[in-house]
Amino acid sequence: MACSSLFTIFFFYVVLSLAIPSSSSLSDTLRQGDSLSVEKKDDVLVSKRGIFSAGFYVVGQNAYSFAIWFNDPPFNYQNRTLVWMANRDQPVNGKRSKLSLLKGGNLILFDAGRFNIWATDSVSRFTVFLQLKDNGNLVLMDSQNALLWQSFDSPTDTLLPQQPFTKTTDLVSSRSQSNFSSGFYTFFFDSDNIIRMRFDNREASSVFWPPPWLVTWEAGRSTYNNSRIAILNSKGNFSSSDDLTFLSADYGSVIQRRLKIDSDGNLRLYSRKNPGEDWVVSWQAFSDPCKIHGICGANGLCIYDHSSGRRCSCLPGYKMKDPIDWTRGCEPKFNLTCKDESHFLKLSNAEFYGYDYGFFPNYTLDQCEDLCLSLCDCKGFQYSFFNAGHFNCYPKTLLLNGYRTPSFFGHLYLRLPKTYPLPNTTSGEEFSLKCSRLKVQELDMTYTKKHANESVRTLLWFVSGLGGFELILLLSIWGLLIRNRRNSGEDIRDYLLAATGFRRFSFAELKKATKGFSEEIGRGSGGIVYKGVVSDGRVAAIKRLDHEAKQGEAEFLAEVNTIGRLNHMHLIEMWGYCAEGKHRLLVYEYLEHGSLKQNLSGSYVLDWKKRYEVALGTAKGLAYLHEECLEWVLHCDVKPQNILLDSNYNPKVADFGLSKLLKRGELNNSRFSRIRGTRGYMAPEWVSNQPITSKVDVYSYGIVLLEMLTGRSPTTNYHAVNESKSGETTEHTKLVSWVRENIKGSTVSSDDLPTRLEKILDPSMDGEYDMKKMEKLLEVALKCVEEEKDARPTMSQVVEMLQDH
Ligand SMILES: *[C@@H]1O[C@H](CO)[C@@H](O)[C@H](O)[C@H]1NC(C)=O
Ligand SMILES: *[C@@H]1O[C@H](CO)[C@@H](O)[C@H](O)[C@H]1NC(C)=O
Ligand SMILES: *[C@@H]1O[C@H](CO)[C@@H](O)[C@H](O)[C@H]1NC(C)=O
Ligand SMILES: *[C@@H]1O[C@H](CO)[C@@H](O)[C@H](O)[C@H]1NC(C)=O
Ligand SMILES: *[C@@H]1O[C@H](CO)[C@@H](O)[C@H](O)[C@H]1NC(C)=O
Ligand SMILES: *[C@@H]1O[C@H](CO)[C@@H](O)[C@H](O)[C@H]1NC(C)=O
Ligand SMILES: *[C@@H]1O[C@H](CO)[C@@H](O)[C@H](O)[C@H]1NC(C)=O
Repeated sequence: MACSSLFTIFFFYVVLSLAIPSSSSLSDTLRQGDSLSVEKKDDVLVSKRGIFSAGFYVVGQNAYSFAIWFNDPPFNYQNRTLVWMANRDQPVNGKRSKLSLLKGGNLILFDAGRFNIWATDSVSRFTVFLQLKDNGNLVLMDSQNALLWQSFDSPTDTLLPQQPFTKTTDLVSSRSQSNFSSGFYTFFFDSDNIIRMRFDNREASSVFWPPPWLVTWEAGRSTYNNSRIAILNSKGNFSSSDDLTFLSADYGSVIQRRLKIDSDGNLRLYSRKNPGEDWVVSWQAFSDPCKIHGICGANGLCIYDHSSGRRCSCLPGYKMKDPIDWTRGCEPKFNLTCKDESHFLKLSNAEFYGYDYGFFPNYTLDQCEDLCLSLCDCKGFQYSFFNAGHFNCYPKTLLLNGYRTPSFFGHLYLRLPKTYPLPNTTSGEEFSLKCSRLKVQELDMTYTKKHANESVRTLLWFVSGLGGFELILLLSIWGLLIRNRRNSGEDIRDYLLAATGFRRFSFAELKKATKGFSEEIGRGSGGIVYKGVVSDGRVAAIKRLDHEAKQGEAEFLAEVNTIGRLNHMHLIEMWGYCAEGKHRLLVYEYLEHGSLKQNLSGSYVLDWKKRYEVALGTAKGLAYLHEECLEWVLHCDVKPQNILLDSNYNPKVADFGLSKLLKRGELNNSRFSRIRGTRGYMAPEWVSNQPITSKVDVYSYGIVLLEMLTGRSPTTNYHAVNESKSGETTEHTKLVSWVRENIKGSTVSSDDLPTRLEKILDPSMDGEYDMKKMEKLLEVALKCVEEEKDARPTMSQVVEMLQDH
């Protein structure tokens, strides 16, 4: 479901809650010898409290299936929420078909009075009856209370609360939203005791969840418990014997829920507060549906954005095989034989999973091209960023599971015959991603008290709508991962761990890792950070959140999972968390060069070139936070202490996401006042009464740039050129006005700027700088610190401005 509709749903809850009491005059029981006829509209069973109905449901022209559905809303026959079907693949005739409970205990579905389409094949010596329960279970019992059969044992695509999910109860998606017959996606217990999801359209088949290149423990699962049982409780906790657990975003309240494998291959948990309301997605396995296999078929490319949802397109040079069915994929418009000369078209940020000819690490582009050209059936190759300027090469024999996302650091080079001209769109309009969900930025945080709780809930729903518990951080590093585990080297293992090690740690484990929280390496918003070594030997930065953070576990998990899901080379990586009793800890990667703050002073000082790169990298990290349709994940505390540097001095933004649930109403709360920002870096909106948008981060970023340029901290005192006239000038405006004062009269293009610029540049640095770059940094910085938030650029505009140089 699109985020926008989640929002709409939320805001129109009240309007929509036309909860009409259901009639319970209808019976919940079918007695021995009786039948339900397809021709009589009233021949339905209704559970005692009127929650569910069972009866014939029209699935096509003159085609009916016996089904169970949520009764509300009662008049919306077209859009009933089905939860079960007896005969999804063999609908019966609209005339003379019936469901009969025979003497002896068999329940049989007759098609047009003749064919036995479906039966329970149950037997009893006693009197039997069929009853529809208020939990959605249709049970066949005898007078001795023996259970002969129940619908909970043979689900279709939906699991209801308290309905056990076992090795015999696979969920199979329907073919489409309107065609209820068995589709391509299965949610099942595999023979190694792990719950998985599989795509199978008879032409291709692959497991896609958990990500197939992970060994089970990396995916947070366990193969050891062979009881193979999972259950969703009515509070919204799904918990399985393979250690898969997830919580609904609205965990806690007892409301209506259903877990469904949708026809698009995504597993979603739906909730609604009151019968008759629209359903809200409160958890889903994939936030980016393009990562589900089989979406666009062979030679197709999947593109997703939150506003228009998922789209498929054929690769250049290919056309749709079946104009009405994407799953059939695309076929080439050309004939390519081994002898033909070919060339390559680069599709940036496109990822195709599987069907590699092999894995060739650290190849140059030329090497990879030559390799592909030497292979007769090479359709193109994946060229994926590996590390510091090195790329891996994966020639493809088939182009399947293709999708495009800006967070993937790799490209597909598509092989086309020389006779086929390369399309002249390199980054192509057809392929550009638009992210108009950015509109979410209107979600300012100035809710009134009355709506405060609801706004949090909306955020939570929104969170999970975007992916909730997507356990595996496959976003950007997808392509860095190894497809062929046999080739795993040390670096590859590192990537795997880094990409996917997201897990829950026990408190004891972290206590041990930090030697009893002995080595403090910093204090960030809401807690102290310790250095530690986790069990697999990796050095971690472990943040222990303040105890006063009296956050419920569910709320904490919702936050953590959102943060954990964000993955970008300029964002610090979160490896896991601990939530045990009152303890709340976050486990991050440890970066050896410490913070930007430490590198702006002290013995080793960053040179100008590095400073520029830090500026650009930080902007990219923040732009990702703001604009990957996650506008509300403001950072709110951008400062040099929160920009960390790795061994190559690449910057990574740390401490993001913690302020997500911040609300203005809680400014007095000490926890929030610490989280919301740091004196000197805070935008004017915080003290005026304006909405808090991503522009607060832009402001703070501008201050950081000024600090990098001038070497002057906005929080320490120094001789400002001209003490404030207004008397009310705060610390940070001093730095801004000092800079403005010094370059007054110069425009970026004017001749005397260099001289003026000299005056403000960090005196601890020796000459050696690129004037153009310094001017650019200054120009960007001053735009970012505009008082008026709308006058500031967005983070992605900042990236563009800095990248031009
Ligand atoms: C549903 O899909 C199946 C399989 O593609 C097809 O055989 C059947 O005719 C479809 N049913 C309807 C009602 O379109
Ligand atoms: C059923 O739902 C669809 C989309 O969800 C909507 O377009 C249609 O109007 C609904 N039909 C009824 C009868 O409410
Ligand atoms: C969810 O259920 C599992 C199994 O019953 C339990 O271990 C876990 O603590 C529950 N989680 C929450 C948040 O209640
Ligand atoms: C296996 O899982 C079930 C259900 O989660 C649990 O009740 C049982 O204790 C587990 N068995 C073992 C040996 O861990
Ligand atoms: C490709 O080859 C087939 C049969 O060899 C032929 O019918 C078709 O026209 C060719 N297509 C192109 C674009 O040359
Ligand atoms: C990649 O190859 C280059 C030259 O071919 C070499 O200098 C470099 O060390 C290699 N890097 C890795 C990580 O293997
Ligand atoms: C590129 O494509 C556009 C429209 O598709 C066309 O107008 C333009 O002439 C093309 N340019 C070249 C160099 O082929």
